Amino acid sequence: MNTKEELLRELDNVDKRTMDLLSDLSDEQLAVPYHPGINPPLWETGHAAFFYEYFLLRELDGGDARMPGYDEIWDSFEIQHKERWREGVVPEKQRALDYYRSILDETRQRTEKKDLGSRDIYLTKYCIFHQCMHLESLIWCRQTLGYPAPPFTEKPPSKESNGTNGDVEVEGGSYFIGVPGAANVWEAETFSFDNERPGFEMQIEPFKIASTPVTNRQFLEFIEDGGYGNEEFWNFGGRTWLRGGHQHPEYWEKEDGVCRVRFFDQWQDLPLDAQVMHVSCWEAEAYCRWAGRRLPTEFEWEVAARGTDQRMFPWEGSVEDQDADIDAKYMGQVSVDAFPDAASPYGCLQMIGGAWEWTSSQYLPFDGFSVDMYPYMSTLQFGDHRTTRGGSCATSACLIRNTYRQAYHPSRRDCYIGFRTCPLS
Ligand SMILES: [Fe+2]
Repeated sequence: MNTKEELLRELDNVDKRTMDLLSDLSDEQLAVPYHPGINPPLWETGHAAFFYEYFLLRELDGGDARMPGYDEIWDSFEIQHKERWREGVVPEKQRALDYYRSILDETRQRTEKKDLGSRDIYLTKYCIFHQCMHLESLIWCRQTLGYPAPPFTEKPPSKESNGTNGDVEVEGGSYFIGVPGAANVWEAETFSFDNERPGFEMQIEPFKIASTPVTNRQFLEFIEDGGYGNEEFWNFGGRTWLRGGHQHPEYWEKEDGVCRVRFFDQWQDLPLDAQVMHVSCWEAEAYCRWAGRRLPTEFEWEVAARGTDQRMFPWEGSVEDQDADIDAKYMGQVSVDAFPDAASPYGCLQMIGGAWEWTSSQYLPFDGFSVDMYPYMSTLQFGDHRTTRGGSCATSACLIRNTYRQAYHPSRRDCYIGFRTCPLS
């Protein structure tokens, strides 16, 4: 995504998807109730546009504020989360959408007409990727509130599934983790965020890892074996979290011994061979304790996905070369063995897409970390979040890669997060 054509294509793509996620919602649905895991969609849309305005139209081009007085509204670090719901703070619908449209149009024209230098290209990508992150949160907002599935979600392929497929072995040795630090990140051929740099060589002991993520069927066994009621499976954080009365993953319902799951606005049978998701890190770790297994570190995860040749995706080539549950295509409804050709060099499946995967790693900067021009993309989460890897069904294809690091608070489970496990030795 380094040419004008590629930038324009992705800009159109993210713009169209954002509008698709808003346009089928009524005004009542857009007026979302307060919830700590979501944002008012109109605020989120204006905020995404503000990035283009701030970094491209103002910082690079020296333009003036397009909506004077609104920096404090659109900048997520100027406005408290709860304030975004306060009456009169976010402009009414037409004004917010007009602002969004004018900024996206200006960005498009700028990208078409300007002679783009490396800084223009890097920052345009940065703003597109930032909007992609908000696409993901607009999608989980629809799940949180029980709105319909995204209009671009497809029915999953109805293939026979063999379910899980045991562990694979990863040889020990020296592996390169992350993306090499560049003197000038604008010039790097491949885009990376500050939290992926600077990469480093790391000695990894041999380990085994499940070839597939934990499935709903497997997680149900943990529940039916009394997993939530047995404190010995739960660590200190998990026991504290359990006091919330949790008995199963978010959006599950158990009635007369039958488990169903709410998929957006529909209750449906649990897809048993699909990846379990909407589980907190505490649930993932309790499952591991019960199963006599553990979470991988984020470095083991990366090695299992990447092998020895520093590839961008578990498979060779580009993201388009294999089918994967990304771009809200199947929304986590596919079996864990649905894409056998997308296996990593060690034979791991669905490392990209489906659900983000919890790791045992605290989310920390790599040694030598230096912040990009936007200090809040990573730094606020360092320390008390866990690293998740691999992207989810709601992550954009242009955003995800083997080295991408996302972070969630361990109690979080409204987002699309699951896990895979490693045997203890
Ligand atoms: Fe943001």
